[in-house]
Amino acid sequence: MRLAIFGTGYVGLVTGTCLAEVGHDVVCVDIDADKVEGLKRGVIPIYEPGLAPMVKANHAAGRLDFTTDAAAAIAHGDVIFIAVGTPPDEDGSADLKYVLAVAKTIGTHLARPAVVVNKSTVPVGTADKVRAVIAAELKARGADIAFDVVSNPEFLKEGDAVKDCMRPDRIVIGASSAQAIEKMKRLYAPFNRNHERIVAMDVRSAELTKYAANAMLATKISFMNEIANIAEKVGADIEHVRQGIGSDPRIGWHFIYPGAGYGGSCFPKDVQALARTARQVGHEAVLLQAVETVNDRQKSHLFELIARHYDGEVRGRTFAVWGLAFKPNTDDMREASSRRLLQQLWDAGAMVRAYDPEATQETERIFGKRDDLVLCDSAAAALDGVDALVVVTEWKQFRSPDFARLRDALRDRVIFDGRNLYDPTEVEAAGIAYWGIGRGRSIRMD
Ligand code: UDX
Repeated sequence: MRLAIFGTGYVGLVTGTCLAEVGHDVVCVDIDADKVEGLKRGVIPIYEPGLAPMVKANHAAGRLDFTTDAAAAIAHGDVIFIAVGTPPDEDGSADLKYVLAVAKTIGTHLARPAVVVNKSTVPVGTADKVRAVIAAELKARGADIAFDVVSNPEFLKEGDAVKDCMRPDRIVIGASSAQAIEKMKRLYAPFNRNHERIVAMDVRSAELTKYAANAMLATKISFMNEIANIAEKVGADIEHVRQGIGSDPRIGWHFIYPGAGYGGSCFPKDVQALARTARQVGHEAVLLQAVETVNDRQKSHLFELIARHYDGEVRGRTFAVWGLAFKPNTDDMREASSRRLLQQLWDAGAMVRAYDPEATQETERIFGKRDDLVLCDSAAAALDGVDALVVVTEWKQFRSPDFARLRDALRDRVIFDGRNLYDPTEVEAAGIAYWGIGRGRSIRMD
């Protein structure tokens, strides 16, 4: 099928590339000419495993092209995807200006029937707004062209986006006409072999499904962080508790890892946006607000452990920080817990030597050059002349350090483990004090 995709950001680029990979003829549109030129030459603006070779191969095969020419792309597409950003506006709600601008462009240029698909994460009711904008544009130029607006939310995880897109758990399609659903089923047929993954529903349910999925996952994390904080106070170890509850299939093993709080482009934004939508329709979403409050508090927890260990005397100390990205396998720093930690350390007068396998450049872009931040080339280099180590992101390469060498490197012989990567007994046996999430007090009481 011939497809047009508006937006070559994270979602648009991954979706467009995967759809080309299965044989569709895809044109991606972006208003950023440099980005479009770069993509044509194989310059991929984001770090995502497996994406770059796939973009290059499909571009070379003529199935994936990039343009700034919206009219040409609309003429090309039987199905037109909207995958542009929805940044939070001043009050935190999703700003629809880019989505609605694309809708207007579609209305201006549409010359034959098409299905318009919304992929961006947007509040419930947005498809109706998109439909209204396109209809108004068509009417203004006296054109009578049939079109459908479909909600087809993405469930991509950064770092696994290509895999999630090629092998989805489910494909949610919200549409108001059987014809549109049929077309979408044909489009996704290559991803729907062996068992049925397509869940068809009305548009508003599809829009809400996306928020419900992210809010549920965020709730699991905040729940575990809450229990972790209780564990710390009562002298229990959250890692034992996690294993004790995860084995219940009704609870499950996924997303019950306590840590330094969740970040990224989705959870923080979507939990708040859903709470706001609820408020707008007269429902106070107390659970969602608590999920957000717990997460916000959790982002300060590592620093609290540090301050407690040093009885508040943090000034003048130097900390090695391992991991800056909001999670492993990405360079994304949006809402990353490391940002809060760095700021708190600096505010308290401490110095930071930080290492992240991918996010160093992004960190420099955000914080600029400053005397109290040294960005290092390796995990080992970050340990040069430091007092203590703080682990913020669980990159694989941080999982089994040589603790004897760490003891020699860390002047104060202490590790603050924001992701519970290490076995406290092993760390302590090496002569290093250990603080994890939800297990600090229990270790001291041993
Ligand atoms: C998420 C959803 O998983 C995805 O389906 C949706 O489309 C977009 O949002 P993403 O933001 O890429 O994806 O990251 P994810 O792997 O879900 O992690 C989010 C955050 O939660 C990270 O900061 C991670 O460290 C944290 N997390 C995750 C925990 O603290 N504990 C856990 O048990 C799991």
